[in-house]
Amino acid sequence: MLEISDRGRTWLLTGPTVGYAVHLTEDDELIHLHWGARITLADAEALAARPDPAYRPFESQLDGREEYPVEGGPRFVRPALSVRTEERRGTEWHFDGYEVDEGAEGAEGAEGAEGAEGEDGELRLRFRDDGLTVTLHYRMRHDVLERRVTLANDGPDVELLRADSATWTLPQREGWRLHQLHGAWAAESLLTSAPLTYGDKVIGSRRGHTGHQHLPWVALDTDATEERGEVYGCALGWSGSWRIAVAHLPDARVQINGGAGYDDSGLLRLAAGESWTTPVFAGLWSDEGFGGASRAWHAYQRAYVIPDADRDRPVLFNSWEASYFDISEQQQAALARRAAAIGIELFVVDDGWFGARTSDRAGLGDWTPNTDRFPGGLKPLADQVHALGMQFGIWVEPEMVNPDSDLYRAHPDWVQFQPGRARTEFRNQLVLNLAREDVQEYLWERLDTLLSSAPIDYVKWDFNRCFTDAGWPGEPYPQRLWVDHVSALYALLDRLREAHPGVAFESCSGGGGRIDLGIMSRTDQVWTSDNTDPLDRLAIQHGFSQLHPARVMAAWVTDSPNTQLNGRASSLRFRFVSAMAGVLGVGGDLTEWSEEELTEAAEWVDLYKEIRPVVQRGDLYRLRPPGGGLSAVQYVRGDEAVVLAWLQSQSYGNPAPALRLRGLDPTASYECRDTGEVHRGAVLLHHGLATGLRGDLDAKVIRLRRI
Ligand code: GLA
Repeated sequence: MLEISDRGRTWLLTGPTVGYAVHLTEDDELIHLHWGARITLADAEALAARPDPAYRPFESQLDGREEYPVEGGPRFVRPALSVRTEERRGTEWHFDGYEVDEGAEGAEGAEGAEGAEGEDGELRLRFRDDGLTVTLHYRMRHDVLERRVTLANDGPDVELLRADSATWTLPQREGWRLHQLHGAWAAESLLTSAPLTYGDKVIGSRRGHTGHQHLPWVALDTDATEERGEVYGCALGWSGSWRIAVAHLPDARVQINGGAGYDDSGLLRLAAGESWTTPVFAGLWSDEGFGGASRAWHAYQRAYVIPDADRDRPVLFNSWEASYFDISEQQQAALARRAAAIGIELFVVDDGWFGARTSDRAGLGDWTPNTDRFPGGLKPLADQVHALGMQFGIWVEPEMVNPDSDLYRAHPDWVQFQPGRARTEFRNQLVLNLAREDVQEYLWERLDTLLSSAPIDYVKWDFNRCFTDAGWPGEPYPQRLWVDHVSALYALLDRLREAHPGVAFESCSGGGGRIDLGIMSRTDQVWTSDNTDPLDRLAIQHGFSQLHPARVMAAWVTDSPNTQLNGRASSLRFRFVSAMAGVLGVGGDLTEWSEEELTEAAEWVDLYKEIRPVVQRGDLYRLRPPGGGLSAVQYVRGDEAVVLAWLQSQSYGNPAPALRLRGLDPTASYECRDTGEVHRGAVLLHHGLATGLRGDLDAKVIRLRRI
């Protein structure tokens, strides 16, 4: 709901539990009033009527209060917007009117458009500085507020040095703590928390992709627990370089800026008639602790971000750890038969099926099947897979090229490079310059042809190195390559999805190097991490779940001892229960699994299919975080609840503690689907459920149904 004051200078957006208000002063300063629990328009107006802060030497009257601080004038905070023309730098704007949704035009001082309804209505506040129009967009979806900015130029060239999507202003409180998800390859999404001290804390990526090092998300609280207390969170929807800066200002206020690009050295240049809209920087407030915040983020993504989120993802098999680069039609067909026998629904041939790709040294760029390995192309294998009752998927890495490829030999200038400088290789590959239209057309043509050449249902889209020599010889404003690469990637995915509506896409970047709300709005799931060790995964999944739902979190059961990473041995039970917390997959060499293992695997896959709607579409409760002893998550959907519990290690023979469940009806009774035992809701909530887990790396699935 959107309410606007009589004089059209105070705006209040309201979600089911959240309120957000801004106010325009007589001097056209846009002041942030409120973000938190619901308030009334009268409350917002009372906030707007509060006197300005007292004058203090060496301080700005605006700092910490402005909704979107621009560069220039009496401000010392980090600007969200920094622009320059040939003549000058900075912005001095005046209010130019507001609109609600398309058409519903308002104007400064217009009659009150009280209560302009609609959860999806978008509020746009428009400002002008000579030829530049700056429009701030607001859209409340559930309790998540989506914000972004459009910059439109109709004057002389303007260079956008920095154009953040939003600045979030938190209320004045003491003792803010900052929570973030940091990581590295094979160690993504690890949750870390620390007190926020004065100054700026900056996270981001200057790598051209979202990066393994940080998910573009922060959360702040002062005293929240998993299920109680206020939590503020912000998440960016951008799959290129990005930056989120959390500033603890001198007067105890906190402001969070976020947007595309890592530094302030230039994003884009807008000529007359050109415009750019930033990615979305979404903000969520919850007073139900970190668990409540996660559930609200998940509900928002399932409703508004993830395509077809009400359709459950199939159980997949992926060939990577089973066969690495050593693949052939026959051998994949043998794996497919075994996969079908254990109940797999989607068979994915990973790397190694195309061009001269027999190792990571050659072939990227040549997206036609390797005829030594697949003499009749992919269709014969795809047909066999379909005949076995499974969908068929392939791996691609379209944005890259190996120097040893036909594509590179034909077009050495299609990569990002600086003239006269070395072309840095990582994993023997270079990055294509997707900002170029000829590259975009080539990729569209190749991928469209590929998807038309065989019945392909699924594409794992990888990105296995960072930008290094991001030059574009001949382009007068080469910096734009960073933004244009991402826009071109999005456009290509959109175009392919439109032309091949039956094909699902997975975002992968050496595991979890490209996970953000932007890529998530055009892919069906993400590859969480190349780390398939089931114990390490628990911590990665714990961090991932702070923001993203199980519905997109791909997780595979691979071989034991773990081949790719650490050689750790673990039971099939532990591996399955770990991977069943997300979108289950199997990635081991099934031709080496014993009959007993295959039989057991089939039982786990069956069980997963049964609990899948609860896991993929239910509400998540993190019962105990991973870290040494017992950890557990619970999913609740309607009358069904599923608990997945893992014991890392038992000491002194002490029994694992009982798990206090959440999200249940205390007045109802619940039947355990495995033992037939009946438990009272209140008892499960207050006294918990014994798991009986013992020893090292034990795990269990507990299914409960309300009776
Ligand atoms: C990346 C992915 C892996 C696999 C390989 C193939 O590392 O994360 O899952 O697809 O590429 O080369």
